[in-house]
This record gives sequence, C-alpha cells and structure tokens, in this order.
Amino acid sequence: MFERPDSGERAVLVHINFPEGADEEDLHEFTELVNSAGAVRVATITGTRRKPEPRLFVGQGKAEEILAAVRRHDADVVIFNHSLSPSQERNLERLLSCRVLARTGLILDIFAQRARSFEGKLQVELAQLKHLSTRLVRGWTHLERQKGGIGLRGPGETQLESDRRMLNARIKVINHRLEKVERQRDQGRRSRRRAAVPTVSLVGYTNAGKSTLFNALSGANAYAADKLFATLDPTLRRVDVQGVGPLVLADTVGFIRHLPHDLVAAFRATLEETRKADLLLHVIDSCDEDRHARIDQVNAVLEEIGAGQVPQIRVFNKIDLGDDQPRIEFDADGHVSQVWVSAVTGAGLDLLAEALTEHFQGSQVRGWLQLPPVAGGTRSALYNIGQVLSERVDEDGSWWLEICMAQRNIDKLIRESSGKCTFHPAKSADFVAGAAQAS
Ligand code: GTP
Repeated sequence: MFERPDSGERAVLVHINFPEGADEEDLHEFTELVNSAGAVRVATITGTRRKPEPRLFVGQGKAEEILAAVRRHDADVVIFNHSLSPSQERNLERLLSCRVLARTGLILDIFAQRARSFEGKLQVELAQLKHLSTRLVRGWTHLERQKGGIGLRGPGETQLESDRRMLNARIKVINHRLEKVERQRDQGRRSRRRAAVPTVSLVGYTNAGKSTLFNALSGANAYAADKLFATLDPTLRRVDVQGVGPLVLADTVGFIRHLPHDLVAAFRATLEETRKADLLLHVIDSCDEDRHARIDQVNAVLEEIGAGQVPQIRVFNKIDLGDDQPRIEFDADGHVSQVWVSAVTGAGLDLLAEALTEHFQGSQVRGWLQLPPVAGGTRSALYNIGQVLSERVDEDGSWWLEICMAQRNIDKLIRESSGKCTFHPAKSADFVAGAAQAS
C-alpha cells in the first residue's frame, strides 16, 4: 500500500501559466496564501503549458525540475496553484516522495486553522470531508485506522467501500448539526428583523482590515492578525451609532478570487449574513496596488452569493499608510458612496458614523404609532431598541408611541401586526387629532 507522506513546513510552489486565465498577480496571491497557511517557501517553479498533462499535470521535464528542487531544499510539501485530479496528486506524490497539495487543499488548510466558532469548525470539516470523498482512490487513504476498526467493517467489504461509508456517515452527522446551528442563527436574524434592527455586514478582500474596523466600531476584541483569512466565522455585535440607534454589525470571512465553488457552498450559512444584510461596508485596503481589481473580485463573489443588490458603501481603510486624508464622498444622487478611514488610528471613523446615519436616517420618519392594548409585545420591542421618544395612552387603553424610524421598518411593523397598528406621520391631520385625543 502506498503511504501518504506527512505535511510539513518547507514548501516548493508550482505555478504554471496556461494561455487562458493565469497571470503574474495569481502568483503573488498564491505566495500570500502559502504564507498564510504558515508554510515557508523554499523555491518557486514556474512554467508554461498549453494544457495540463493527464498523468502528472506537468510534463516529465518539469516534474524532474520539481523533484530536484524538493531534494535540493529538503522540502516537505509541494503546493500547486491549480486543481489536480486525485490520480495526478497521487502520481506526483509517488514521484516526488513528499506531500502534494492543490489550491483547494491549501485554502481548506487555511480555513481549518482559522475556524473559531462551533459552526465554522463544522463547516470546515464538512468541506474537508467532501473534498476528501472526491479523492478516494484505491490505495490512497487508510481511514479505517482512525475509526478503531473492530466491528465496524462488514464482511467482505473492501477498503474503499468502508472508507466511503465512514465518510458519508460523518458527512451526515455534520450536516445534521449544521442544520441545527443554522436554524438558531435564522431565528436570531428573524427576531432582529422583528425589532427592526438593521444589519450591517463588513465585506472585503482578505486582509483589507475588516476585523480591525469591526473592533474599532464595536469596541469588541474580535481576533485580528496580519494573515489572510484571520476571520472565518461571522461575528455579530450590537453597536449603537449616534443618531442611528442600535444596529448589528457582522464581520465576515475574507474574500479571495477564484474561491472554489464547493467552498462557497460550504460557507453558505456564513455568507447568508451578508446576503440578508441591509447595508454592506465594503472594506478596501487603500494602499493595495491591486485595489481596483480586488474591488471587482469582491463584487463578483457578492454577485455569486446573491448579495449583488444589497446597498454598499466603500470604506477605503489604512489611510495612515498613505497620503489620503479622512473624507466622505457622495454619488450623483447625493448618497454616501465612499469613506476614507484608518481603523488603526481611528481617523475618519466619525465620518463613517456620519455615513451610517445618512444611510439609515435618510428615509426616517417621525410620528405616532397607535397600538391596541393587545400589542404589548411590539411596544416592549420598540422600547428595547430605544426607538420610543414619548408615549401616551388614550381612553380605550391604546398606546400612542412617538417614534422616529425608517419608513420601511414602520411598514413592516404594521404588516406584521396584521393591520392592528396604525402610523400617523407627524404632519398629518390624523396625528393632530390622534394626539389631541390621546392627551
Ligand atoms: P481576513 O480575516 O483575512 O479577511 O482579514 P481582515 O480584512 O479582517 O483584516 P484584519 O482586520 O485582520 O487586518 C489585517 C492587517 O491589516 C492587520 O495586521 C491589521 O493590523 C492591519 N490593519 C487593519 N486596518 C489598518 C489600518 O487602518 N492601518 C494599518 N496601518 N493597518 C491596518
């Protein structure tokens, strides 16, 4: 049986240019990903091919060049910036006598190191198992060693069948647990909606400074590190912004381009927070030379996960590293489009708060909400989120709450109360009559 060599730290990187698609930037990002995974690059082998070679992905000559580099640098792992088929991976490992990793495996490895919450860990394990299940080739894995063997294998069952059965059983268990966590998360999201608390989701290319900004805005201590993907789990915090009232701030996983599709699927629940957000703060590293390309790549991922239509404010971060001053910019319709800040020094954060106020208050209206005595739950929800300015009770026992809220949230409240609540905008004649009646 063929044994897989252990993974190690010293890495030989392989990047092949194909006529379509590949470019220098790919290589730069790839090197950053490898650093992020904690590996040390000892050599980079590049080359050009018209198409992948079926057996080894690269040609025989290139494979020998990689082998020489592995021997010369005593490397532990060879990482390809490409997808490899299971048999290519196995053939390469045989030839090179060291572990071979493809791009998806590399990203999964980074995800596995970064996952912090229960849900994130489950998502990573699921993605890893699914990846592994496509790699079950005879003589490839020995999963039965991990399960403890006795009594678990059916008579006459082959190694491959039992491996596959174990994987499927584990995938089922994880799927079940994830569904439960997702249900809880969904419940939380629904009650936030009921209380009309808007959700603002921080999105952006990995390393743009989302976690740092999240901390700066929320005073929380979410984990920030100068490594790609420091954030894997969305972290939710309630933040009170002057003039806006409470909102929920969500820190999300960093995006990269060519995020493998099965990974996007695995992080569906995490990304759901983004899809359902009321506003996206698209965080951009203002000093990154490739920032324009990054913006497009993030927008492409947002489209892909169905968040392309969510309103967006671009936050150009890290201005302390360049010559830009804190500022706020508006689009042709007078809506805030960009804010320039430094999450580290705090410069421009007041402008960001102003942008949030502008965004959420732009459409806010003030008036009286008339609630029947049975709507006590709605009344206390409004008090909990600090939306009530004053209150009166009329002779029928109905409450008249003076509120200042976004029109769409008022509409939603009324819809959800099945028409039991009525809203009287501050200037309407009804309001005057109602207020007079209530007083
Ligand atoms: P992922 O989790 O990988 O998506 O990263 P992220 O976007 O959450 O970035 P994070 O907040 O972890 O910041 C990445 C690095 O940039 C850290 O070393 C931060 O200290 C640094 N950083 C973030 N904001 C600023 C800033 O305004 N100025 C400077 N100089 N550095 C910053």
